[in-house]
Amino acid sequence: MQALDLLIADHNRVRGLFTQFKSAHENDDTETMSAVALKIFEDLEVHTTIEEEIFYPAIRDTTEDIGETVDEGVQEHHVVKVLMAEIKQLPDGDADWVAKMQVLIENVEHHAEEEESEMFPTLRSKLPSEQLEDLGMRLEERKKQLGAPVLADKIDLTKEELLELAKQQEIPGRSTMSQEELAATVAPA
Ligand SMILES: [Fe+2]
Ligand SMILES: [Fe+2]
Repeated sequence: MQALDLLIADHNRVRGLFTQFKSAHENDDTETMSAVALKIFEDLEVHTTIEEEIFYPAIRDTTEDIGETVDEGVQEHHVVKVLMAEIKQLPDGDADWVAKMQVLIENVEHHAEEEESEMFPTLRSKLPSEQLEDLGMRLEERKKQLGAPVLADKIDLTKEELLELAKQQEIPGRSTMSQEELAATVAPA
């Protein structure tokens, strides 16, 4: 899968986790909030690592605007990492813990939206598709090294099974995704 689609799949999986977190919060379900928060941290740690180590350096010189968005992106990742470290020090469900989780979610929602609306369309038009494919393979390889689920772990599932997982995981846009997009997005059962 090419790099931008792979990163969008990561974004949508974490958006699903955010929806799960918000519902658990509305239901005052601290146990579920804690479990979902752990998954959010794992996903964000892997995602920021593959972007900073591989993706951002590979694309930063495409245009001046992309370079600026990358610099901003690295700082936004930094804020998210600081928040995650602070959240881990607090008792789960504590008012500050919840507030920091909400700020973390808002930050990541904004950051992912900016990547998808400002950075990715330019890259799609400027970079040859082979380069994006190659970059996608490198990102996938690094995810595997970091112990994260990869597309290959889910490619044998039927479309119905993938859709069911996507529904349970509150993945946005699932009804219009292809089988490959669903497989790249869902977390394994
Ligand atoms: Fe990012
Ligand atoms: Fe991203």
